[in-house]
Amino acid sequence: MASLQGNSSLNIKNLLNKTQIDLSPDEFTSLLSLSLGRSLEYIYKNPEKKLSANNVRAFRSLVKKRLAKWPLAYLRGYKEFYGLKFLVSKHTLVPRPESELLIEQAINYLKKSQPENPIIIDLGTGSGCLILSIAKNYNGSAQYWASDFSSSALKVAHTNARHLGLNKKIKFIKSNLLKNIPPLKLDIIVANLPYLNPKQMAEPSISQEPKSALLAGTDGLKYYKKLLETLPEFLNNKYLILLEIDPDQKDKLADTIKKYLPDAKVEFIPDLTGYIRIAKITT
Ligand SMILES: C[S@@+](CC[C@H](N)C(=O)[O-])C[C@H]1O[C@@H](n2cnc3c(N)ncnc32)[C@H](O)[C@@H]1O
Repeated sequence: MASLQGNSSLNIKNLLNKTQIDLSPDEFTSLLSLSLGRSLEYIYKNPEKKLSANNVRAFRSLVKKRLAKWPLAYLRGYKEFYGLKFLVSKHTLVPRPESELLIEQAINYLKKSQPENPIIIDLGTGSGCLILSIAKNYNGSAQYWASDFSSSALKVAHTNARHLGLNKKIKFIKSNLLKNIPPLKLDIIVANLPYLNPKQMAEPSISQEPKSALLAGTDGLKYYKKLLETLPEFLNNKYLILLEIDPDQKDKLADTIKKYLPDAKVEFIPDLTGYIRIAKITT
């Protein structure tokens, strides 16, 4: 990258031809489009466009961040999830495509069971992508709650709710798991709480995302165990609980569910790649 510094005679074509072994050509082009504030189409259609020293500097700074494993979504400031656009910041996890399975399951249940004015809660809401996607895609009446213990994440979730025209529909609450949740009888609980163990945290691609959104004790089950212990008194007679998990946690989690919800039915649902991703708990 040193050769790009202060080189104002570059045009788009020359810049894209420069080799950058650690980034794919697509990423390279996306970063250029981002640094110029222009669409990808513009980049492809204007290969001769001259770049100013400021353009090159802005591009160089983005490449540096990307090489330091900043997610592209943080550099852009948003991520698409379930067909919607969610603002993200360094305080929120970047929504993952596999979490869309939680939305499909929740919507299917709502359509099939048609509970009357159900109370739906998203625990560890982060950017708000789960609860907002459900609220945007379900037409029936429902009460929506979302909580997180991070005030900064809740601010982002609230902004996303406003952008999606849902801020009047969702109650956001700062809470460590269920601690500050009023004595509701919940019909649907969705949670993508942290579930990684310390070894999994060494993965470079997640190094810039908040540790507090990912790490959950030595076995990755710290939060789900605590949640299941306190959840029974909050449950309506008929309920659906959807927890996003790691495939290796299946057996241990099944034991914990049995301990606190002995009468519940448990299913483990795989994602599109065939890995178990969701624990679905119902009455
Ligand atoms: C894996 S992220 C999921 C974010 C979002 N729901 C998603 O699916 O993209 C976990 C979220 O849980 C929050 N969190 C972690 N521990 C928590 C706790 N004890 N109580 C409430 N929220 C917690 C984190 O701040 C983070 O926003």
